[in-house]
Amino acid sequence: MFNVVIFGAPGSGKGTQSERIISEYGLFHISTGDVLREQIAKGTELGKIADSYISKGQLIPDELMIDILSQVLDANPQAGKGVIFDGFPRTIEQAKALKKMLALREAEVDVVVGLEVEEEELIERLLKRGQVSGRSDDNLDTIKKRLHVYHNQTKPLKDYYVKEGKYKQIKGTGTVENIFNSIKETISKL
Ligand code: AP5
Ligand code: MG
Repeated sequence: MFNVVIFGAPGSGKGTQSERIISEYGLFHISTGDVLREQIAKGTELGKIADSYISKGQLIPDELMIDILSQVLDANPQAGKGVIFDGFPRTIEQAKALKKMLALREAEVDVVVGLEVEEEELIERLLKRGQVSGRSDDNLDTIKKRLHVYHNQTKPLKDYYVKEGKYKQIKGTGTVENIFNSIKETISKL
């Protein structure tokens, strides 16, 4: 089982690069944002709870999010070959829970690909996407809140994974192709 965490601020390209990584390495993609948006679209109870956080740019509480992730892993046996985790973990608590979940499967996070992009470009990308995405959080006010949450709650995870020797920094600007080539080069050296 080869497990990749793709890490970075909102708009850093996690979803875009995940698509490339999946087609290259055949990993199973779990985007917690996509999982939650699917529930919102279906109008489920979980979707209603998720929407109340997402539209404010806040994180879904850890306990609930960890429970959701564990259910997704259990429901998808193909995840046993390896997963690209996109948008999870987002807190130290989630990272510790992921470590336990993977240990139960005699696996671990093999690498954390950290996409680094300047704030100005993140905002520009998300505003542009907001013209077509229909996402309730792609507006300037909520983008600023998401970036604030990222700096306070998610960025500390970088140090957590640096200490574990798993964090690999990737310049997240330039063409999608060039960024993907840097990721491939990093993975090939593992
Ligand atoms: P989530 O869906 O994970 O959103 P996010 O982290 O805010 O990131 P985005 O999906 O907006 O950006 P991305 O990094 O995937 O970039 P993308 O490839 O799309 O989470 C949404 C919400 O769900 C959270 O705020 C929270 O409420 C909740 N949530 C989710 N997971 C959670 C968790 N674990 N715990 C608690 N709550 C959770 O690219 C962005 C744009 O840029 C696109 O238009 C793309 O085409 C463009 N682009 C990409 N690469 C380039 C490039 N190289 N040059 C120019 N443009 C580019
Ligand atoms: Mg995304």
